[in-house]
Amino acid sequence: MTIIEQAELERQQRYIGQIGQCMEAYRSETGFSRRYWIHTYGCQLNENDGEKLAGLLGEMGYLEAAGLREADLIILNTCSVREHADDRLFGNLGRLKNLRQEKPDLVIAVCGCMMKQPEHVARISRSFSFVDLVFGPQDIYRLPELLYLRLLDEKKQYLVGDEDTLVEGLPIHRARRFRALCSIMYGCNNFCTYCIVPYTRGRERSRQPGDILRELRELALSGYREVMLLGQNVNSYGQDFEETGGDIRDFSDLLEAAARENFYRIRFMTSHPKDISEKLLKVMAANPVIEPHLHLPLQSGSNRVLGQMNRQYTREQYLATVTRARQLIPNLAFSTDIIVGFPGETEEDFADTLDIMRQVRFASAFTFLYSKRTGTPAAEMPNPVDPAVMHERFDRLTALQDAHSLAYNRQSLGQTVEILVEGASAKQDQVFSGRTGQNQLVNFTVADPALLPAEARSPDGRIDGSRLEGGLARVRVTDAKTFSLFGVLEAYRP
Ligand code: 5AD
Ligand code: SF4
Repeated sequence: MTIIEQAELERQQRYIGQIGQCMEAYRSETGFSRRYWIHTYGCQLNENDGEKLAGLLGEMGYLEAAGLREADLIILNTCSVREHADDRLFGNLGRLKNLRQEKPDLVIAVCGCMMKQPEHVARISRSFSFVDLVFGPQDIYRLPELLYLRLLDEKKQYLVGDEDTLVEGLPIHRARRFRALCSIMYGCNNFCTYCIVPYTRGRERSRQPGDILRELRELALSGYREVMLLGQNVNSYGQDFEETGGDIRDFSDLLEAAARENFYRIRFMTSHPKDISEKLLKVMAANPVIEPHLHLPLQSGSNRVLGQMNRQYTREQYLATVTRARQLIPNLAFSTDIIVGFPGETEEDFADTLDIMRQVRFASAFTFLYSKRTGTPAAEMPNPVDPAVMHERFDRLTALQDAHSLAYNRQSLGQTVEILVEGASAKQDQVFSGRTGQNQLVNFTVADPALLPAEARSPDGRIDGSRLEGGLARVRVTDAKTFSLFGVLEAYRP
């Protein structure tokens, strides 16, 4: 592992300056600014990487394009967790070929996890030769250099470094105003046998507590009300530190320190069930600012399959963690990830998964069809599950989960819940939305606009949802559906 020295950051800053001058020359000649469009696939860690790319581009003088066709630079930030995402990338690249023909100056870049898989890089160079830049998730900090070299001459720039690089101090352009994403660590050491992440994102590297707390302080001071701490397995934060002399030695310590900053809500994901400690649960219980929600991927309820997956816990241990967590935090909501159709999964194994779901009653779940990832141990395992069987199991699983989600949401009927407002609902006019600490989506209307600050109300009585972002609302729940609650505003605090 290397931590990039100040000198490397300064080197990139020189490229940023040089590109800035190119951009300025272009602008004074043509009257236009160059614009970028970033499309991010996959998880929140990727989303946070996309925000860093946008931050770097902003420093270089690029503006964000309103749409793909308006862009002079398109970046596809890829994910390789499931095959579906690979297919989408190549489908989208196919469409970009025409755009490039119409606009020869367009620069096209592909980055993210898929670029750590040599077969994808080879396919791009073979079949999508119009792609100008290729780089891996560990090389984001070198975008200014790559872009500069590309703008300077006609050569394509491919760079997928082998080093697990950590760079602090990159500019960041945050996509949301109400919730900030903060990556606290990168990579994963767990090698679950189905998962490509340890191969694409490398070994676990934890950011220094001082760097994280500085970022959190800046976020709180700049008005962010909610922060989400991110890592593939946040519970092993700090295990790679050589010195353990400081106050913050593990994730519980970090969470406790974060809780002292001025946020309305602190969220975190993802937690590995094998690493949930009593200490973590106690920190959660003692600090109401930490959301009473634990995303705890189960993957399977069968001990045999869990063993094959190398998950390093049994169903009994998982259930014991859930029970203990509920003792300490009675209003805790659990969500999970479940994979259906892992190689060799029998009807009996699947019945174990349904059984544990009935015992835990997850508030929500992300359910996945097993997807074979070349290079992982599971890709070599015998007895693949027949696709028709897999789909049939998947349907039974989602039906059960939907019933549990609905029952969970119904418990809130008639109650007043506190939510952090995320803005206007995308679907309905004058309906606004936010989330409870248990991560339930709540849509609400405002019967009495006088409850809101004047700047959120226009003279014709309409409410500007963007002015409500990041506020705390109390909402009386009048309807409960599988994926959301509905209610009426009772109180609002900016
Ligand atoms: N097939 C299906 N689902 C997968 N996940 C990870 N790898 C695979 C795979 N090969 C799921 C796991 C993980 C979530 C982020 O994606 O459930 O928790
Ligand atoms: Fe993948 Fe397992 Fe690591 Fe999660 S813990 S990223 S599933 S290897």
